[in-house]
Amino acid sequence: MSLSKKVVKSIYPVTAACAFTVLSSGAIAGGEAGAAEAAKEPAAGAATEGAGEATAAPAAAAGGDKPYSIVDGKVDANTFEGWQTYRVAGCGQCHGGAAQGGAAPSLVERLKTISQEQFNTSVLEGKNLMPPWKNNKKVVDNLDKLYAYVKARSDGALGEDKPVKQ
Ligand code: HEC
Repeated sequence: MSLSKKVVKSIYPVTAACAFTVLSSGAIAGGEAGAAEAAKEPAAGAATEGAGEATAAPAAAAGGDKPYSIVDGKVDANTFEGWQTYRVAGCGQCHGGAAQGGAAPSLVERLKTISQEQFNTSVLEGKNLMPPWKNNKKVVDNLDKLYAYVKARSDGALGEDKPVKQ
């Protein structure tokens, strides 16, 4: 834990404070901190319940098709929840508030070359300096939605502003 803080700090001096916040938040620490995160989760889950859970996964899983839908500039509930997850998990502290890149690479660019499976694996298992998120229930439960949001950004279908729900 303290070792990874040092690594992140030394490689990303500009966002050292941010990275520190992320690492300290328990979201990625696993163990006790992970359990605390999981314990908080029911409330957060309840807040978004009823927002189309049942219709969610199939669309994203149906390979080939876009995992998001945008009508008149407004996004479907999944993509919106993906944006929320991106914010809550703090991905933006390294990748920029709208995935445009920051201390860590632009996900807008990365998603032009990686598959959804690679996305899932990298996010869950971590990659080099990116910590694993598999102990973060919010991220695990909303992985498809997270992908939908970042993919919409990558495809240029969504701008950097907070998305508006259909
Ligand atoms: C502490 C900083 C940090 C945070 C927080 C972070 N990432 Fe990353 N992420 C990185 C770095 C650094 C890389 C580049 C890894 C590499 O390719 O060496 C990366 C790479 C990625 C990649 C590309 C993986 C690939 O296979 O090329 C994806 C996708 C990604 N991050 C998604 C996310 C998501 C989603 C979140 C929030 C749940 C997140 N990241 C949070 C630092 C971070």
